Parts: sequence; C-alpha cells; structure tokens
Amino acid sequence: MLKVTDLGYWYDRQANSLFEHVNLNFESGTSYAIVGQSGSGKTTFLSLLAGLDKPRAGKIEINGEPINELGLTTYRRSQVAIVFQSYNLLTYMSPLNNLMTAMAITNAKHRGDRDYARSVLRKLGLSDQQMTKNVQRLSGGQQQRVAIARTMVCDAPLVVADEPTGNLDETNTKDVIAQFQKIAHEQHKCVIIVTHEPDVAAACDHAYRLAEHQFKKEA
Ligand SMILES: Nc1ncnc2c1ncn2[C@@H]1O[C@H](COP(=O)(O)OP(=O)(O)OP(=O)(O)O)[C@@H](O)[C@H]1O
Ligand SMILES: [Mg+2]
Repeated sequence: MLKVTDLGYWYDRQANSLFEHVNLNFESGTSYAIVGQSGSGKTTFLSLLAGLDKPRAGKIEINGEPINELGLTTYRRSQVAIVFQSYNLLTYMSPLNNLMTAMAITNAKHRGDRDYARSVLRKLGLSDQQMTKNVQRLSGGQQQRVAIARTMVCDAPLVVADEPTGNLDETNTKDVIAQFQKIAHEQHKCVIIVTHEPDVAAACDHAYRLAEHQFKKEA
C-alpha cells in the first residue's frame, strides 16, 4: 500500500544524512514498529510518511501514486491519521468534539454520529463524564487515548504514531497496543508505530530498527 523507494533525508547537509537509500513496503492490515536510538531519525521518517515534510531523495507512493503528485495536503487529509508525541488535540474542545470535528473535516463515513464516537471513546476507557470535559483537563494518558480514538473514527487507511505509549502505564500500554492491532487487523489499516519499548515492538506484526542510516528488520 505504502512504498518507499531510495528514500533519503538530512536536515542541514547531505554529509549528515539521517538515512539514505531506504526501500520499504508497508501493507494494509498490518502493524509495523520502528525502533532505534534517540536522535536516529525515527520521528523524521514518520513525518515524511505522513506528508508533513518532503524527502531530500527518493519517493513515497501510496497505492502506486507518488504522494507529492497527489499533493501533500490532499494526501494528509484523505490518507493519513497521525498520533503525535504530543497529542495535537484541539485543546478548547472535549474528547467527543475532537472526534466529531475530525470526522467532519475528513468527511469520514461516521461523520455526525455521536453515539459511534462515544462508543469508541468508551472502548478506550474514557468515561462519559471525561469525554465531555475540556481535553486539557485530562491526564497525558487520557489525552493520548483520545488521539488514538480519533484515528479510529476516521477512514484514513494509514495510521502513523510517534511513541503513542510514551505516557502510559503498563496496563494502558497493553490496551493501546491491543487497539492498534485492532485498527490494523479489523479496520484493515496500515499502522506504523515509533516506539522505545521492546514489548510494544514485539506486539507489532513487524519491526524495523533504524541504525547506521538504514532500516533493518528485527529478528
Ligand atoms: N528541525 C530540525 N532541524 C535540524 N535538525 C533536526 C530537526 N529536527 C530534528 N533534528 C535532528 O535530527 C536528528 C533526528 O531527529 P528525530 O527527531 O527524527 O529523532 P528520533 O529518532 O525521533 O529521536 P527520539 O527517539 O529522541 O524521539 C536529531 O539529531 C535531531 O537533533
Ligand atoms: Mg522522536
């Protein structure tokens, strides 16, 4: 579904490339973990996959179409759901309205369906009371779960997440990983997760390690 060919990226000079000549395929219905040392370029790689930044070299195609030809704005709106390290929720709204707004903006098939949004938030462990108060009054872990719920109610076939369990305790981490597996296997989306946690990586269908400027499959 998502194909990366000869991808390269550097911030200041090519001599300081984070990665070069990267060739990878990501399929629907499958979850992937990206691991690697701090500063190796994982977040940067995700931002390229999400169409937030342009590669210095190589190309990214979705279902055979280069994402820059599709237009990065169109690509982001119609194809990608993102869970950031910081959650990027609409801070002046409740969890419920964050989901309703995301569905409206992306023209999702469940747009307007508050009961559906409520049921997804409930599945992620938010109480009816929590889902109607301002998201800024929720804990980090609760906000992270709202960000995950938002990807679930929208139709984007690609879900990228940057350390989605970074703020969660063990129980919530297990829940969240189970939800991501459902997004991949039941919603048939392509899920790509950057993580530092070996347990999270092991729970995904495949794992790649970014080291020495290359992505290598973990055993
Ligand atoms: N906007 C920027 N301008 C210049 N250099 C940057 C910029 N953003 C990141 N970098 C550098 O690029 C390298 C990779 O950063 P990136 O955030 O992709 O790493 P990461 O693997 O996600 O690390 P972490 O695990 O700590 O989140 C780092 O050395 C960082 O300092
Ligand atoms: Mg990072």
